[in-house]
Amino acid sequence: PRSAQILVASNRGPISYALRDDGSLESKRGGGGLVSGLSAIGSEADAVWVCAAMSDGDREAVRREVGEPGVRMLDIDRELFADAYNGIANSVLWFVHHLLYQTPLEPVFDAEFRRQWASYEAYNRAFAEALAVDAAPEATVLVQDYHLSLVPGMLRAYRPDLSIGHFSHTPWAPPDYFRLLPDDIAAQLLSGMLGADRTAFLTRRWADAFTACCEDVLGGVGKTRIGVHSLGADGDFLRRRAHQPDVEQRLLELREQAGLGRKTIVRVDRTELSKNIVRGLHAYRELLTAHPEWREHVTHVALSYPSRQDLTVYRDYTAEVFDLAERINAEFGTPGWTPVVLHVKDDFARSLAAYRMADVALVNPIRDGMNLVAKEVPVVSDHGCALVLSREAGAYEELGEDALTVNPYDVSATADALHEALLMPDAERAERTKRLAAAATALPPQRWFLDQLNALRA
Ligand code: G6P
Repeated sequence: PRSAQILVASNRGPISYALRDDGSLESKRGGGGLVSGLSAIGSEADAVWVCAAMSDGDREAVRREVGEPGVRMLDIDRELFADAYNGIANSVLWFVHHLLYQTPLEPVFDAEFRRQWASYEAYNRAFAEALAVDAAPEATVLVQDYHLSLVPGMLRAYRPDLSIGHFSHTPWAPPDYFRLLPDDIAAQLLSGMLGADRTAFLTRRWADAFTACCEDVLGGVGKTRIGVHSLGADGDFLRRRAHQPDVEQRLLELREQAGLGRKTIVRVDRTELSKNIVRGLHAYRELLTAHPEWREHVTHVALSYPSRQDLTVYRDYTAEVFDLAERINAEFGTPGWTPVVLHVKDDFARSLAAYRMADVALVNPIRDGMNLVAKEVPVVSDHGCALVLSREAGAYEELGEDALTVNPYDVSATADALHEALLMPDAERAERTKRLAAAATALPPQRWFLDQLNALRA
C-alpha cells in the first residue's frame, strides 16, 4: 500500500481469464480501444493498473492470486458489478454518448434505475478506495472512461495530495441529449469528473460537448482543465504482428473464403450497436443491386468480436447481423461465391489478415470516440486500401481528407462510396494509404500516455 507513483484505473483491464472445463484458467488480452491505448503503460516500470474482475474466471484468478505484475483486479460483488457495468455504464451512459436511444420508448428512469445507480456509486467507491490505499504521496492517477465517472471526485476527497486525471474514450453527448438524464444524475456525473485536475477527450469535438454540458448543468467547469489527446495506432507493433505465422495462415484461409482474385470490402468491429454494422450490410446490398457488375467480383468480409452479450439488445443486434448476412447470401450467392463472409469471433490474427488483404475498409459508426480500426488498416495494408469513413468517428478529424467520408445514416451514400472506393485507381489508393498511415501513427499509444502524464503534472 501507498507505494505506486503512477496508477491507472479502468473497468476492463489488459487481461481477462476464462475457466476451462478442467478447472484451469486461460488468459486473454482485453479488447477495445481503451486497452489498446493503455498497452503503453507496460513500459512504465512502477505503474499499477487497477481494473475490475469482470467474469467468474477473473474472480477465480483473484482468489488464486494469479495475475500479471502491475495489474490489480478488484473482486467486486457479482450482482453489484452487473448493475454498474451492464445496467448503468453500458445501457445508460454508453447509450447517451452514442445517441443510441429510441426515444419514444426509452430511456426510462424509474426505481429500478435508481437501484442500479446506487450500485454504480458503490462500484466507483470501490475503485476510489483501492486507489486511495495504493497511491504513494502525491502520486499521479489516470482514471479511464464512463464506467468510473465518479472516481475523481471520490478519490479527491480521500486523497487531496494526488494529481488526478480523467480520460474519456467515448464521444460526449451534446447538452440537449445529455439532459435526457435526470438532473441530479447529470450533475453528479459531471461534478464527479470535475473532481479531476484535468479531464481529457479524444477530439476537440467531444471536449467542447463536455464543456457545453458543464455550462448547461453546472454553470461552468470550475478549476478543472479540459484537454484533448488523440490516440493513434502502434505502427511498429502492428507491422511486426501482422507478419507472424498465425496471421499468414489466416490470410490464406480468408483469401480462399473471399475467392481468389475478387476484391474485398473489409470491416472489423465489436458486435456493437454504435458500429452500424446493419446499415453497412444494407449499403453492400444496395451496391450489389445498383451495380450488378460487382456481383461475383467483390466479397464483403465482416469480422465481429462478440461484445456485451449479457445485454438483450446486443444479443438481438448480433442476431440481426447474422440474419441479414444470410439473407444477402441467399439473395445473391452463387455456387462459387459467398457475397458476405461473416465471422463472429474474437480473433486478432484474423483481423490483421483482413486488414492486409482489404481493397476497401468500411468504418461507418453512428458515433465513435476515435475508432482505431480506421487507423490500423492503412498501417498494415499489403497493397493499399481505400477507406470509407463515417464523419461521426473521432478519427475523421485526422483521416477525413484521404478517406471517402459518409453520413453513417445514409445507406445510399454509403453504397455510392463503396462503389467509388472499389473503382479507385491503384496508384491513388496507394498514395492515400501512405498518407493515412502517416496520420494514423502520428500519436502512438506511448505518446498518448506520456502526453497525458506531462500535461497533468504541468
Ligand atoms: C470502448 C470503451 C472501453 C471498453 C471497450 C470494450 O472502447 O471506451 O472502455 O473497454 O469499448 O467494451 P467492453 O464493454 O467489452 O469493455
